[in-house]
Amino acid sequence: MADLGFDGKVAIITGAGGGLGRSHALDLAKRGALIVVNDLGGSSDGTGHSETAAQKVVDEIKAAGGEAVANYDSVATPEGGANIVKTAVDSFGRIDIIINNAGILRDTSFKNMTPDQVNPVLDVHLRGAFYVTQPAWQIMRDQGYGRIVNTSSGAGIFGNFGQANYGAAKMGLVGLTRVLAIEGAKHNIKVNCIAPVAKTRMTEELFGDAMDKLSPELVTPTVTFLAHEDCPVSGEVYSVGGGRVARIFVGVTPGHYQEDLTPEAVRDNFDKIRDESGYEVPGNLNEEMMLAFKAMG
Ligand code: NAI
Repeated sequence: MADLGFDGKVAIITGAGGGLGRSHALDLAKRGALIVVNDLGGSSDGTGHSETAAQKVVDEIKAAGGEAVANYDSVATPEGGANIVKTAVDSFGRIDIIINNAGILRDTSFKNMTPDQVNPVLDVHLRGAFYVTQPAWQIMRDQGYGRIVNTSSGAGIFGNFGQANYGAAKMGLVGLTRVLAIEGAKHNIKVNCIAPVAKTRMTEELFGDAMDKLSPELVTPTVTFLAHEDCPVSGEVYSVGGGRVARIFVGVTPGHYQEDLTPEAVRDNFDKIRDESGYEVPGNLNEEMMLAFKAMG
């Protein structure tokens, strides 16, 4: 089969001045996409600002024969999001792909977490995805085409100590992905999500040498495929790292049904309620409700 090409497609990649975003930007550019390299250029905790990071990646793309423009807005405000989308439209005339990737960390145990650690993390990861995606949504609807890849994390999907702020934001992105997939379906807008693991400045202090085999370039192929016209799925989540790609999903056990349910019946049937054999994976809320109605007979 032919290589996955992106000739003339316009992609916004947020937080693309380094780490995973830079790797996604370089690959899409190499494959013919026109790129908006967005990056605020701050430190890992979101403080500071510099135009160097985004501009360097734009220079790299151009040196390799690709096309890109830099944008230095923060994803964490509605004005920033609107301006990132405007940069794409002003520079390239359309917008086909959004990769919501920008991120910061402010880890601490829940006991010690202050609003200054909660709000900026929710603003960048979760609200940032709203602020960038929403101004582009109408454009994608009008053109009947769009591909969106959100960046979640196992820290939220599975849980991780010291990341209540980050985990909540990242699991929020799974919910956003699932709803946008449903709302975008009839406009050929596909929305998927990755939970990556890679050695970047965000993780290298945490895991050190253990991360050496986990290059960002091994996460990008999945993002590139999900951002492509041929992407066959929407509303899905993939665990990606070190060359491994696997699907993550939310399943429902067959459970227990009893018309006269009591707390004692819940207790006495708890193993059955929790038993994972025969689980189902509902595609949306209606399908989940149908399972309940089916059990009721
Ligand atoms: P990174 O720190 O190298 O990249 C994040 C980029 O986002 C930085 O260049 C930063 O300047 C930019 N950024 C931060 N706030 C911004 C804002 N308000 N507006 C625009 N840009 C902003 O870290 P990495 O690892 O490449 O992270 C990329 C994404 O992947 C993040 O969303 C992160 O949470 C997620 N992730 C990474 C994992 C890993 O193992 N590296 C694991 C799970 C998720």
